[in-house]
Amino acid sequence: MSTIKHLFENNKQWADSTKAQSPHFFKKLSEQQSPKYLWIGCSDSRVPANELLGMQPGEVFVHRNIANQVIHTDLNCLSVIQYAVEVLKVEEIIVCGHYGCGGVNAAFYDESYGLIDNWLRHIQDVYRFNKAQLDAVTDEGERINLLCELNVIEQVANVCNTPILRSAWLANQSVTVHGLVYSLHDGILKDLNVSVNESK
Ligand code: CO
Repeated sequence: MSTIKHLFENNKQWADSTKAQSPHFFKKLSEQQSPKYLWIGCSDSRVPANELLGMQPGEVFVHRNIANQVIHTDLNCLSVIQYAVEVLKVEEIIVCGHYGCGGVNAAFYDESYGLIDNWLRHIQDVYRFNKAQLDAVTDEGERINLLCELNVIEQVANVCNTPILRSAWLANQSVTVHGLVYSLHDGILKDLNVSVNESK
């Protein structure tokens, strides 16, 4: 316990200063959440969803895993998407990758870290699907950056192909899926311009 004592102190300071700025902040949030956005991002500690979007608690529903993947059979991620779309009625789903992603790097170099190799195998599949395009890039750093982008594009497609999004769009619910990449070097988000909204 003592090793995380400072975290409780930090937390108390944060709660106090938040209350000082907005006295009803916690009361309002404890009653309901109505985020407009679902964020699907990497677990990387340098890519914090709320902070980089300039958003407060209550504004963005978040799912993070290693290398921001949406796997067809991942009940955890699918449950998050279902709850976000069907119950919270989010309007925008953001799949966000980042350059310098350790997961993408490990997949690229076929490094072995145990159990996670299986999870990262999906990124090696992304490489295989786009092999000609990737192999045409001679600079290795640029090729890995492109793999980060293609991974996001693949995950956007995976979100769109879930029965959740298909049903939502059939019911004419307006929800758009976006693909973004974040740069650790300058904190800037890049839009990959692959947004999809198939509601009528
Ligand atoms: Co990452």
